[in-house]
Amino acid sequence: MPNSVVTGASSGIGRAIAIRLARDPLSQTVVHYRGNLEGARQTAATIEASGGMCHLIQADLSQADDISRLADQAFKQLGTIDAWVNNAGLDVLTGEASGWTFDQKLRALLDVDLCGTISLSRIVGDRLIEQSQASGAQTGAPSMVFIGWDQAPEGMEGDAGMMFGPVKAAVMAFANSLAQTLAPHVRVNTVAPGWIQTAWGETTQGYWDERARSQALMHRWGRPEDIAEAVSYLTSEAASFVTGQTININGGFNRRFEL
Ligand SMILES: NC(=O)c1ccc[n+]([C@@H]2O[C@H](COP(=O)([O-])OP(=O)(O)OC[C@H]3O[C@@H](n4cnc5c(N)ncnc54)[C@H](OP(=O)(O)O)[C@@H]3O)[C@@H](O)[C@H]2O)c1
Repeated sequence: MPNSVVTGASSGIGRAIAIRLARDPLSQTVVHYRGNLEGARQTAATIEASGGMCHLIQADLSQADDISRLADQAFKQLGTIDAWVNNAGLDVLTGEASGWTFDQKLRALLDVDLCGTISLSRIVGDRLIEQSQASGAQTGAPSMVFIGWDQAPEGMEGDAGMMFGPVKAAVMAFANSLAQTLAPHVRVNTVAPGWIQTAWGETTQGYWDERARSQALMHRWGRPEDIAEAVSYLTSEAASFVTGQTININGGFNRRFEL
């Protein structure tokens, strides 16, 4: 009876992860969102249509009060948590934020994707250790999964590379330290997506569309479901000996790609 929390599950990758983890009919899932209530309801409706049970929690990860309330409410709703997925991230490529300056985007990404995620994960990590100790390790270790970015460690040219690169590389580095800190009570891993066709990918044409396909050896955009399958594995009992790892889900990075 796996109980999961997925942050940023009102659209894109987070929605696919929440739906995938909720496939067990006895599961309970917290669908977290910030502003897109309609999207969160759609995620919940898909889960409930398959027999899963769902709770919606709103929280803004740039707000300290919201972060602790999210952790409190999630543990209260689910009782025991088996999988916590830190997927939420600011979209600065589409909508109003796409018009911000580089510095505004960078600071907002640092605030939400990095500092918000770290604060939340430290609270959740402590609670998962308490949970694990209270159960006397009768059950498998709960796990946390972070979402990074495959190109963050090596870097990518341009503004997107210079803002998402340092932010996601730091998220991935934090996840590795958290794995060292919480072992053996909690497993912590990272999935690093390549080009995944969510909101921004659906608006691209020409150069970026061709680039996303050509940079994957599998010669296609990634789908949110590709990421969800990897998260499902990492949170499953099949991965009980896997912690402190990063899995790139990018169709295999094409090293012969030329700009
Ligand atoms: N798509 C890609 O190619 C790709 C590649 C590498 C990494 N990633 C990472 O994968 C994750 C999901 O990306 P996606 O493409 O699925 O994006 P998305 O569809 O824009 O989803 C982002 C989610 O994060 C939530 N969020 C945004 N700001 C927030 C805040 N201040 N507080 C709390 N939640 C907030 C959104 O909530 P609301 O909409 O409800 O406000 C939404 O549920 C992100 O961390 C992203 O950086 C994506």
